[in-house]
Amino acid sequence: MGEHLTVVNHPLVQHKLTLMRDKDTPTAVFRQLLREISTLLAYEVTRNLAMTTRRVTTPIEDMDAPVLSGRKLALVSILRAGNGLLDGMLDLIPSARVGFVGLYRDEETLKPVQYYCKLPGDMPDRLVIAVDPMLATGNSSAAAIDLIKEQGATDIRFMCLLAAPEGVARMKEAHPDVPIVTAALDEKLNELGYIVPGLGDAGDRMFGTK
Ligand code: URA
Repeated sequence: MGEHLTVVNHPLVQHKLTLMRDKDTPTAVFRQLLREISTLLAYEVTRNLAMTTRRVTTPIEDMDAPVLSGRKLALVSILRAGNGLLDGMLDLIPSARVGFVGLYRDEETLKPVQYYCKLPGDMPDRLVIAVDPMLATGNSSAAAIDLIKEQGATDIRFMCLLAAPEGVARMKEAHPDVPIVTAALDEKLNELGYIVPGLGDAGDRMFGTK
């Protein structure tokens, strides 16, 4: 992937995102929409996976047909909201290995605090796609990528639903080698670290907490 930031402005993605932004959208619908959008974003984030060919026999004749080259994939969900993007990704790439990084945001400092990290063992051999719906300050995303790099991964992509300019800048500074795919780049962060106009707290809206 060449560009550092790719905004997926496909009509289906934009329509579903608008429904998700609406504060009156119920939890179950929000979760379903996130799952649907994640498969559409997954389509973009995997666009240039390495390919090779395999000989197949169609009912008509033999041909060398394209298949994925077999580079192993790892999906890493940044808990807890990352799980909302994970399910749709796994629908599309069922054989991917899955890791989890648990970070919570200290509400006063807005800095990430790690409470869990379980990643597949062979990270250096894998293309890693880290997922978290909200790229806000970028602090927790950058910290999660730090942990993934500490395990030896070198080919990493980041997929989110919404990004704030501050988060994109933070990621570009900390991890310029990690391309970002998002459904929208919003205006800014507010004083509480929420994305404006955003959609509120993605975890709370997905799981019905608060
Ligand atoms: N995390 C969220 O869930 N929402 C935001 O707006 C920012 C961070």
